[in-house]
Amino acid sequence: MDLPSFLWLWKIAAWSMGLAIAAYLLQTVSGGWMYYSRTSRTLRPSWLRYFHYVSGIVMVMLVILLLIIGLVGTVGHYGSLMHSSHFGAGLLVVALVSLSAWSSTKISSQRPWARSLHIGTNIILFAGFVFVSLTGWEVVQKYL
Ligand code: HEM
Ligand code: HEM
Repeated sequence: MDLPSFLWLWKIAAWSMGLAIAAYLLQTVSGGWMYYSRTSRTLRPSWLRYFHYVSGIVMVMLVILLLIIGLVGTVGHYGSLMHSSHFGAGLLVVALVSLSAWSSTKISSQRPWARSLHIGTNIILFAGFVFVSLTGWEVVQKYL
């Protein structure tokens, strides 16, 4: 076992995960605000949609970075993949984030299903983040 050579990698992973969760919280607030302004027919600031969009792209990139770090770190250490349920949890989060980002580009008044899909996947994504953090924390215990 040779964790120190990978420690810098797990440090980037820990920071990325913290930022991804922070981005998710910003998404919840800005998305909720957009939802409120639409249903209550109040004005929404012009920067709000842009902010939601940009922080969403940042979140997607952080999750993809985490996937790459997880795969590269695991292959580098074991020479193989799929050592625990963290593998499935990671793929699940990547799938949900992709579905969320894709559905967001389809949202319009002609396609109300896209908004439901976007909001639905993001609620499930919360559980995905919890699952990937718990299983990730579990595998970290092996090294400590
Ligand atoms: C994956 C990254 C994400 C991207 C690229 C993204 C992008 C978008 C876009 C383009 C819209 C449509 C805005 C409009 O024109 O009305 C939208 C709506 C919305 N988003 Fe996201 N989003 C992301 C993640 C999230 C997350 C994580 C949440 C909440 C936890 C969220 C909550 C919402 C809500 C509630 C709406 C509906 C607003 C309304 O009803 O008018 N989004 N999002
Ligand atoms: C969206 C977030 C994340 C994704 C997509 C992700 C993805 C992955 C993937 C696909 C692997 C390879 C697992 C295998 O093949 O068995 C992995 C490994 C790993 N991940 Fe993550 N991960 C995420 C978050 C985290 C977090 C939050 C932690 C720490 C708390 C963590 C710690 C680890 C560790 C220590 C390994 C090495 C696996 C082992 O020793 O069995 N990951 N990650």
